[in-house]
Amino acid sequence: MKVGAHHYHTIWLNEDSASVDIIDQRWLPHEFRIVTLRTVEDVAVAIRDMWVRGAPLIGVTAAYGVALAMAADSSDASLDAVWEKLHETRPTAINLRWALDAMRGLLRELPDGERAEAAYKRAAEIAEEDVELNRSIGMNGLAIIREIAAGKKPGEPVNILTHCNAGWLATVDYGTATAPIYLAAEEGIAVHVYVDETRPRNQGAQLTAWELNGHGVPHTLIVDNAGGHLMQHGDVDMVIVGTDRTTANGDVCNKIGTYLKALAARDNNVPFYVALPSPTIDWTVHDGIRDIPIEERSGDEVTFVQGRGADGAIVTVRVSPEGSPAANPAFDVTPARLITGLITERGIAEASPAGLQALFPERR
Ligand code: MRU
Repeated sequence: MKVGAHHYHTIWLNEDSASVDIIDQRWLPHEFRIVTLRTVEDVAVAIRDMWVRGAPLIGVTAAYGVALAMAADSSDASLDAVWEKLHETRPTAINLRWALDAMRGLLRELPDGERAEAAYKRAAEIAEEDVELNRSIGMNGLAIIREIAAGKKPGEPVNILTHCNAGWLATVDYGTATAPIYLAAEEGIAVHVYVDETRPRNQGAQLTAWELNGHGVPHTLIVDNAGGHLMQHGDVDMVIVGTDRTTANGDVCNKIGTYLKALAARDNNVPFYVALPSPTIDWTVHDGIRDIPIEERSGDEVTFVQGRGADGAIVTVRVSPEGSPAANPAFDVTPARLITGLITERGIAEASPAGLQALFPERR
């Protein structure tokens, strides 16, 4: 997507074919910074400390991390070590394991001397595939937005609520939840997005709002607690969120607070959609609440907030009393029964084993 006049992906291999550049998301929306990752240690820090975040982008970054590791040491021991090192960085997003498995599965079969080149090639393919998957998700979600728009008065926008950032910054391009929105806006459909600020890390306020702003998509930032009220008053036509892991039975794990939005949507007959590429489906898990590990992050993310001060500097300030402990579960699970549909690259699936298997028969 565009930043100013330039088209950017969130990650790319440099011309030296030995290092990877990323958009460092810690400073958005205030500063647009690009950082170079040269070693697997750099990649581990970038994922763990959320310089990059969002399940699909975490997967792609990890794939490049394997390539950087292979360039330094292409032995079996190194391949296993990089898998372990990167796997432990963020436990919930399944795309991380998916990408690491894909890379290790391919590289294991190759002689050591061929591994580095093959790893860079496969990582680049995974990145390109992500763009294509999101474009297809966009087309499938666009059909839903078109249908809602058709029932509106001329000029009246389709109001879409989203949580966290499942935009192009969370992927290589387009985003998952935002792909249908960008395509609808491009097509001239009037859309308006309610952006949950998404405490504690404020991915909505800092990232989604920045993206939508950059692309001229009308939007309004709201506090996380406002969604239910807006739905009660008929101000939301649909919800679209992303996911970090969707189970084989259609349960959706996503940023903390997603479940509350799904409950409010159900109580107000607002359709609740989840947009996801198939690498986000964990076919081995059948009960999201019981079996998905929920990342517990530092309480400092709750007790401090980051923003731009009056002097223009980016500052971090405490918002709670010194000594009050804070808990910070980063994700929650929305049960399949609360989900209207799963927007995938192959179409819209009912959130159920049968619904997912109908679109992915190879998983029966
Ligand atoms: O903790 P984050 O910022 O990595 O969480 C991201 C989300 O929850 C996204 O909604 C999810 O990864 C889907 S991204 C296309």
